[in-house]
Amino acid sequence: MAAPFLEVENLCKHFGELRAVDGASFHVGQDEMVGLIGPNGAGKTTLMRLITGILKPTSGTVRFKGEDITGQDTAKIVNKGIAPTFQVVKPFRHLPVGANVMVSCLCPRAKRRGDWVKTVELRARDALEFCGIADLALEPASVVSHGDLKRLEVARAIATEPELLLLDEPFGGLSPAETELMGKFLRRLHRGGRFGRLHSEGPAMVIVEHKLSDLMKIVDRVIVLSFGQIIVEGTPDEVVRNKEVIEAYIGKEVSSLVS
Ligand SMILES: Nc1ncnc2c1ncn2[C@@H]1O[C@H](COP(=O)(O)OP(=O)(O)O)[C@@H](O)[C@H]1O
Ligand SMILES: [Mg+2]
Repeated sequence: MAAPFLEVENLCKHFGELRAVDGASFHVGQDEMVGLIGPNGAGKTTLMRLITGILKPTSGTVRFKGEDITGQDTAKIVNKGIAPTFQVVKPFRHLPVGANVMVSCLCPRAKRRGDWVKTVELRARDALEFCGIADLALEPASVVSHGDLKRLEVARAIATEPELLLLDEPFGGLSPAETELMGKFLRRLHRGGRFGRLHSEGPAMVIVEHKLSDLMKIVDRVIVLSFGQIIVEGTPDEVVRNKEVIEAYIGKEVSSLVS
């Protein structure tokens, strides 16, 4: 078998006494769309930040396509093909929506196609169109709705032509209709929609999400984090039937999925 695409081994992040991530190990395959769930404060965002080098781990290893990338700078990691989106949207608010995406097109990874100078605007437009917000290209990000900023997060990430997307609560703050649209869109992206010229397949994905029923509809596998540790891994069906998961959540959303 080929080396797993993303390998996280025994990753730990301590903030003083607090073990936010406490020995997490998991793999993600190149063709996978994986959900990462767990109660508030379980360490999901911290784990994503460790993978993208925004935070440096206390111990443990992150390997991408067989290479040890533990603790490398975020810019370097993005350039290797891993792109994050953030739970709290982080646009350049003073820049137009289109320019926000053009910034991502300037990443060396995206620039390696020879004609990048001429096409940066076109490529940014392509990403905006794929995300359904091309009509907002000239609007300052500061006036755009929350739902559209969530899509802008994804547009900025895919403009770097990633092979692995790490999405932190892409459905956060979206209406049920917007959530469904975003879910379908992520699925289409994963299957290899027309965007992304460096690879014929769409990117692998790890999606952190609270909206479990919407998440379960789109992912192949689910990893459950509780107090910084992975307590269960399996298909959506296996996970919702697992007693430990239900106890970790004690939430009616999981119970309603099981019933
Ligand atoms: N930079 C930080 N400094 C100190 N504690 C932090 C920091 N970031 C996160 N934490 C703590 O680590 C734990 C996990 O947080 P987080 O990863 O944001 O959880 P989740 O995304 O699963 O809700 C929480 O107890 C949080 O308060
Ligand atoms: Mg979080």
